[in-house]
Formats: sequence, C-alpha cells, structure tokens
Amino acid sequence: MVTKTIPVPSFDLTIFGATGDLSKRKLLPALYHRMLAGQIPRDARIIGTSRSDLTIEEFRNFAIDSLNEFVPSKDLKKDPIDLFLSKLDYVAIDVTGEKGWDALSEKIDMTGDRIHAFYLSISPKLFGTVVDRLVAAGFTGPNSRIVVEKPLGHDLESARALNEQLSAGFEESQIYRIDHYLGKETVQNLMALRFANSLFEPMWNSHHVDHVQITVAEDIGVGGRGEYYDHSGAMRDMVQNHLIQLLCLTAMEPPNQFEADAVRDEKLKVIKALQPITAAEINDVTVRGQYRAGPGIKSYKDDVDNEKSKTESFLALKTNIANWRWSGTPFYLRTGKRLRSRLSEIAVVFKSAPHSIFEPQNEHFRGNALIIRVQPEEAITLRMTIKDPGTGGMRLKEVSLDMTFHDKFDLDDIQMPDAYERLIMDVIRGDQTLFMRGDEVEAAWAWADPIIQAWQDSNQAPAPYDPNTSGPEDALMLMHKDGRRWREISL
Ligand code: BG6
Repeated sequence: MVTKTIPVPSFDLTIFGATGDLSKRKLLPALYHRMLAGQIPRDARIIGTSRSDLTIEEFRNFAIDSLNEFVPSKDLKKDPIDLFLSKLDYVAIDVTGEKGWDALSEKIDMTGDRIHAFYLSISPKLFGTVVDRLVAAGFTGPNSRIVVEKPLGHDLESARALNEQLSAGFEESQIYRIDHYLGKETVQNLMALRFANSLFEPMWNSHHVDHVQITVAEDIGVGGRGEYYDHSGAMRDMVQNHLIQLLCLTAMEPPNQFEADAVRDEKLKVIKALQPITAAEINDVTVRGQYRAGPGIKSYKDDVDNEKSKTESFLALKTNIANWRWSGTPFYLRTGKRLRSRLSEIAVVFKSAPHSIFEPQNEHFRGNALIIRVQPEEAITLRMTIKDPGTGGMRLKEVSLDMTFHDKFDLDDIQMPDAYERLIMDVIRGDQTLFMRGDEVEAAWAWADPIIQAWQDSNQAPAPYDPNTSGPEDALMLMHKDGRRWREISL
C-alpha cells in the first residue's frame, strides 16, 4: 500500500513540559515518525522546555530514551535518529518566574512566515500564566498556534475560565484543543463511511436504528495516575470528552463541507440536543462501578490510595438526543478500566425486519448491526442474517461481513499513524477539523455537570465489579430492562 505524505510548512514547535510523560510517550515518537515519513521540513525545529536545568545534550538523551522505548526497533536507524536530534533544542523555563523567557525569545524569530506552535503539555493551572507570558514575549502573531489537552476544565465554570485564559492571547482559530480520539483512524473513517457513501444515510435515523451502543473498554487500571483519576472518574476522564465526541460523529447531520467550523457546528448541535439526565432518573439511566481486587490485581481503592473513594472507574449510561433524526433511539455509552479486553467500538443496531416470513428458528437473531471498531484492530463489520449454507431447509444464520483494515489494506509493512502524528501535523497545517472548539467543550460540561452533581447529592457509591469482566451486573440490566443487550467486550 502506498501512503501519501504532504509536507507541512516550516515550523518551530515549542513544547512546554517537554520532559514529561506525554512528550516521552507520544509527542517525540510522533514527530520522529512524521520525519521518517518525509513530512517534516528540513529546517523545522522542536524546542523543548521544562523547569529542569538540562543541557541540549541531556534533552537529546531524553529524546533517545523516548524513541528507544516507544518507536518500533525496525524504525530506529542511526541517520534518521541523528537528523531528528539535530532538530531539537532546549530551554529551561520557570513558567511562573523570569527564568528562561529571554533565552526562548532569542531562539524564536517571529519575523517571516514560519509557523510557531506552542504545545502546553503542562498542568492546566498554568495555562493562563503561560498565555500571558507568550503575549508579553510577542509570540502571538498571526502564524502562532497554541495546543492544549484535557483536562479542559473540571466542570462548566472552570472550562469557561480556561477558555477565557486562552482567548486572552489567541483567537479561536489559533487554539487547538486535542481530543486524541478524533485523531484515530477509524474515528475519521466513521465520517467517510457516513458521508462518502449513500448506502447508510437513508437508514441513519430513528425510523430504522433501534439503538446505538458505544463502548470504550480498557483492560488497564488507573496506573500511576491515581491522584488525577480519583478527582475525575470515568465521566470526566472519558465520557465528557472521548465518548461524547464519538457520539457526535455518529449522530451529527452531514456538514455542508469537510471543514473545521462546518463539522464543529454540527457536533455542537448534537451536544446541545442531548436530553438532560435529571436527578430523579439518575439511578435508572446511569450505572457507576469501581473495580475490586483480583488475582494479582490491586483494587481501585488501593490503586488510588484512598480507602473511602467513591469515584467511578466504570460508567454506563443511556442518553437520548432530542431532535428529529434521533428522537426515540437511545444511545448507550459504556467505558471502564480493568475490563475484560481493550476494545473500543460503535455499534449501530438496526430494527428487526417488520414481519418474518420464515419458520421460527431456534437461534435468537439480533438484527442487523454496523460495527465500527476503533481499536485494537480497526475494522468495519456488518452483521447480517443469511441462509445457513447446505441442505436442511431454510435455516438462518447470523454472519459478519468483515472489513478488517489490516487484511484489506495489507498493513503488515505499514503502521497506522498514531493519533498524535496526525493531530500535530494538522496543527502545523492549520486544520482545526479534528480539534474541539471552546463552545463544544463547554456544552459537554453543561450536559455532564448535573449528572455528576446528582451522584454527589445522592452520596451513591459505585457498584463494585471484578477485574477482567464486563463491569457491574447493573450495567447489563441497564439494557436488559429495555429488551436489549450489550455486545461482548471481546474481539
Ligand atoms: C485518556 C484517559 O484520555 O485516554 C486515560 O485520560 C485513558 O484514562 C486513555 O486510558 C485511553 O486512550 P487510548 O487511546 O489508549 O484508548
């Protein structure tokens, strides 16, 4: 398979928090891969900054460690590594003080038409301070861009405050809010599937779709992020952002073009149409869970070192979209840690045929479903009922028309770009289509806040569940009581 690489303009990318975890795991490996793909201009520069007093050599050693750990060994060759290292520079900056700002100014030349991107891989508490410093240093010209990532607020009020801080130095068209799910290959394919084909659109509505289920299951626990996670929980960590974005792309109206604001306007309409979940119905339509200990696995409470924690590591909920297209078709969302497998998928489940002309069958048929598997192996499958081949009368059988990308596109030699590769290149290109706009983030908080508040008011503790399962029993009931069932969390 041939991949097409369109080089981006010359740029200086300054990473604040360059010696942190995100930089090591994702940003530096992503930039290296894009360089290998020939997308990064020769004179591009990556300027790392952090509080640590590192020399350039020490920062380059950090980058070497990052590549060794997070880039497949087949891609690690001396010449490209040397070329990559030659693009790196480093300045120690105290973002709350004076240290380092002058040195950064000496390195960044704002005349000319280079792109200047500032990636804030630091605590959101510091965003406002850094924006003020970037303004003061004269780094906010027309070719400047700022990149931020979740948590984008903790609730509506803090999200608004954060948006105000960012807009103190940058226009909305210069602010890139990353939701890395939007950079995933199949998530974008969902848009291609819906809007580049005419097959599904006539059926993409409540007349034909029984329900939609969106699952983002993880087999890992909260790892070393206990403190952050225990203040967030699955709602803030996953649902308010990643799952709502998946829901938007599934439910939105066709934008009139594939362009940032056209797409984001449509997503915003979906979020605003989400029916509020009231305190009275909170126990009927939401299920929170928290993992117990299992063989060789610590409990959530031990992971976060908080015996009294009532934070959810699992959340399932049912939501409705109050508009003409979707009224009457529920969307079920489910996400959790320490579940049976790592699996993310969107399943659009169609209504059954209105009348069966066949003899009743022993098997139970679930109807057609279109499944968009986001990970681990990107795939689109269509569940169909066909005649069981061979003799024995008209026996029916459910099968999957399967398009696993790996097989279809001979991906053995080619690695799908990581979401960050695509997203960082989009920042440099100036394409905001796969980034969240400030009003989207606020609208998603406006939906999530009352739900979180209702849980707090009821002082309800999440239901315990065993690791390596599908989560708490009550989550199964959430669908069973509507006569539906979740898909298995397995490949
Ligand atoms: C992050 C969450 O945004 O997404 C993590 O903070 C989660 O808790 C991660 O593990 C999942 O991302 P991915 O790409 O591995 O599905």
